[in-house]
Amino acid sequence: MTTPVSLKVGDKALEMPVKSGTIGPSVVDIGKLYAQTGMFTYDPGFTSTASCESKITYIDGDEGVLLYRGYPIEQLAEHGDFLETCYLLLYGELPTPAQRADFNYRVTRHTMVHEQMMRFFQGFRRDAHPMSVMVASVGALSAFYHDSIDIADENQRMIASMRMIAKFPTLAAMAYKYSIGQPFVYPQNDLDYTSNFLRMCFAVPCEEYKVNKVLSRALDRIFILHADHEQNASTSTVRLAGSSGANPFACIAAGVACLWGPAHGGANEAALKMLQEIGSVDRIPHYIARAKDKNDSFRLMGFGHRVYKNYDPRAKIMQKTAHEVLNELGIKDDPLLDIAIELERIALHDEYFIEKKLYPNVDFYSGITLKAMGFPTSMFTALFALARTVGWIAQWKEMIEDPGQKIGRPRQLYTGNARRDYIPGNMR
Ligand code: CMC
Repeated sequence: MTTPVSLKVGDKALEMPVKSGTIGPSVVDIGKLYAQTGMFTYDPGFTSTASCESKITYIDGDEGVLLYRGYPIEQLAEHGDFLETCYLLLYGELPTPAQRADFNYRVTRHTMVHEQMMRFFQGFRRDAHPMSVMVASVGALSAFYHDSIDIADENQRMIASMRMIAKFPTLAAMAYKYSIGQPFVYPQNDLDYTSNFLRMCFAVPCEEYKVNKVLSRALDRIFILHADHEQNASTSTVRLAGSSGANPFACIAAGVACLWGPAHGGANEAALKMLQEIGSVDRIPHYIARAKDKNDSFRLMGFGHRVYKNYDPRAKIMQKTAHEVLNELGIKDDPLLDIAIELERIALHDEYFIEKKLYPNVDFYSGITLKAMGFPTSMFTALFALARTVGWIAQWKEMIEDPGQKIGRPRQLYTGNARRDYIPGNMR
């Protein structure tokens, strides 16, 4: 038992229980604070607030550690594959071969989307951003699959989960194909998850498509790296949306919308655009100076993290993956990679970045890798969303299955006008 925390408010002394997790900081349970003192806590941005209890993902930001269900991300990325990671996140354990075969079968049985979805797509402008298409089409799944939106039914929850994991790649590939005016490519279920996605993106009906195993493995690893990241902004959005009892497709669409922002999943797109804007190694000092200038809103995209105050462990794997992909594609000198490496080198030795503990994050190298694979910049965040879907679902399921679950309802510090009387227009 950890000693409770004491708080003195006026002449009242309060004892607040402390809860400890398996690893990581303990939490002070302030649930009774308002009832006993009439006061709320104030923590915009949740910098010191745990919003839930979870068994899924653990991050030690100071040490640069990321664990899915206890397993280090480096080991999963090196030895496992994405569908195995999906199983692990959803069910808490690595699958046996039989469980794995069954899981693969269930996912691949759901890869096609309702044919009417094709017509739904025709309503989008061709130049629509793939993330706007994804927000809409994932949300629209609830209009197509009514038979899996009853969240009180465990079987329906499972089917909805399978549908989203299986259909997200199909929808993301459709968003891409639509944007370039090519026909949609139906899934081919004898391919593995990631090879199937690559084929849906890059195959055309008039040519045979051969999956490049190195690229498929690299993309699969990128999906593993992005699969979950505990209570980040989009996951918290999914939990909050789900806490009202909203259907799973709507909740995941809310997560997609949140991920889109440049401070979150949109950073991979922003990081690549930044490298392109910098243009050459000799211009780096100018951009470093801008990033440090308090009066300039410019930030080094792909740098810094709310939780990691050390090298993001995903960034290390991503950097290695970038080299593997460029090597496989015979790209000897990528000017953007040169800029990225030099930018990282300078930033890691610069007092400003050292003092603020700003290190490259997962998005710093992912853009270079995805671009080399042939994805346009606008697809980067959609790929992040594809991978994060399983994390959102695992977190949503954990919340729904928690018997103590309540609707999320933060309070506020009100600083607007106090009560005042209405004055009719002609007397103002
Ligand atoms: N470049 C320059 N300065 C920075 C940067 C940066 N990328 N990031 C933070 N700082 C500075 C910031 O100006 C502030 O300085 P000061 O204390 O003097 O005001 C200090 O570092 C702390 O920054 P913060 O904004 O208070 O920190 P935060 O925890 O709220 O923000 C962040 C985290 C990721 C939003 C931020 O680091 C950032 O905007 N990075 C660039 C965007 C990015 O790469 N996002 C991807 C995150 S990883 C993928 C994901 O999780 O989606």
